[in-house]
Amino acid sequence: MVTRLETSLYNQLAEKLADHIRSGAIATGERLPSIRQLAKREGVSISTVMSAYSILEEQGWVEVRPKSGYYAIKQARPSLAIPSIAHTEARPIVATTSQLVMDVQRNGFRSNAINFSRATPANDFPIAKHLQQSYTRQARTRQHLGVGYTVPEGSEELRQQIARHAIDAGVAVSPDSIVTSIGSLNAMGLCLQALTQPGDVVAVESPCYYGILQLIESYGLRAVEIPVHPETGMSLEALKLALEQWPIAAIITVSNFSNPLGCSIPEDRKRALVDILEHYEVPLIEDDIYGDLYFGERRPKAIKAFDTQGWVLLCSSVSKTIDPQMRVGWVMAGRYYEDILYRKFVNLVATPLLPQLACADILSQGIYERHLRQAREAYRQRYERLADLASEHFPSATKISRPQGGIGAWFELPASVNATELYHHAKDQDVLIAPGEMFSLNKQFRHCFRLSYAYRWTPEREDAIRRLGEWVTQRVSPTNTFDQ
Ligand SMILES: Cc1ncc(COP(=O)(O)O)c(C=O)c1O
Repeated sequence: MVTRLETSLYNQLAEKLADHIRSGAIATGERLPSIRQLAKREGVSISTVMSAYSILEEQGWVEVRPKSGYYAIKQARPSLAIPSIAHTEARPIVATTSQLVMDVQRNGFRSNAINFSRATPANDFPIAKHLQQSYTRQARTRQHLGVGYTVPEGSEELRQQIARHAIDAGVAVSPDSIVTSIGSLNAMGLCLQALTQPGDVVAVESPCYYGILQLIESYGLRAVEIPVHPETGMSLEALKLALEQWPIAAIITVSNFSNPLGCSIPEDRKRALVDILEHYEVPLIEDDIYGDLYFGERRPKAIKAFDTQGWVLLCSSVSKTIDPQMRVGWVMAGRYYEDILYRKFVNLVATPLLPQLACADILSQGIYERHLRQAREAYRQRYERLADLASEHFPSATKISRPQGGIGAWFELPASVNATELYHHAKDQDVLIAPGEMFSLNKQFRHCFRLSYAYRWTPEREDAIRRLGEWVTQRVSPTNTFDQ
């Protein structure tokens, strides 16, 4: 059996060698040390080196030449720049979302397509099997399934597990302050219902996850778009200006590894954001759905970790970490607990018990932590591969986000390139991306798109990136540069 230590050893070794090839310290065409030499030099086992080499081979860093050894096959490539900060309207606008969203959703279920459009977790982890076992175990052993309504706040066991895991995000809450929901989007919808009336103004990120924009549209709200810095998240300076100018009823932000930019608000800015909430006495709906999928050493804190007065309503779910099919989410509602519970009761009466019990079962075991370690490492490597493929196949003026976690990357193309056209062209070739215009209310990201890198790279997926890059390259003249 491969131990966790061995897994992290060979991943570390593979990453170290990939870094050497990326930086040019190991030149293209150079022969790498033999398995025995490297094992001796690094003080690791033969099988660790073999696993590291097979990862490098899978990622396209090395090739095996029969009877000769492993050779570096990649040039060190310059990395692409990060996207620019958005220019927003700086005034409330009536929310109307892109017609494309439903087209992208519908096509996202096509089984013959190479799908980069959906922010769905990968399906090649053992958690799927554990989940099935949990469902079966719970269905077999629970007496009270199928005997009537359940309490509106949701399963107590699940709420206990959610409260226990929240400690990792720096959040200390009682299970009694949590309300379960049908995923994170439903949790945010309940929050908006509790906090706003039609016509109210809500501050949202720009670019913003289209599901949030659709919620705002469906509740008849107006939105003021706040620019998001591709590395540090929502601009607090722009937010303060908006709060000075407009009667903002609520703020919504995806605090860690946002969708689509993949950025996180640094801790000091999270503290500063809570000071702003307290000063302006305005609630904030925090979506921390990607927080467990960090690539770094430790999980970033939630904004709620700094909230002592209950202004933050923290929403999340297991849609990105376990399975979106479970539709298990929750909200830690702070001072709005009673309102949220009432809204849940009015909307849903209660949420289905079996998925909640299966989820509590998974969260209560070491399986979840093991799964997260594996998923985080896989996603980090899959992003690195995407960045390499992008710099290989896209024009050098392309920009790509550098997420420190999560499963999505944001591409910014030269301003003259229309990513909606790219979407339609790629769709005809059975390749799906999420066009940028879905991520704002005024279609301002028409030269951008989001691409999910969650799934394992295959030759077909890599070739699809090449084809996307080729299409963009054909539309960029040599003198074309980004509008600054
Ligand atoms: C930022 C963000 N929030 C919420 C959701 C939807 O989550 P759920 O499936 O839990 O409703 C998504 C899905 O893509 C997302 O990216």
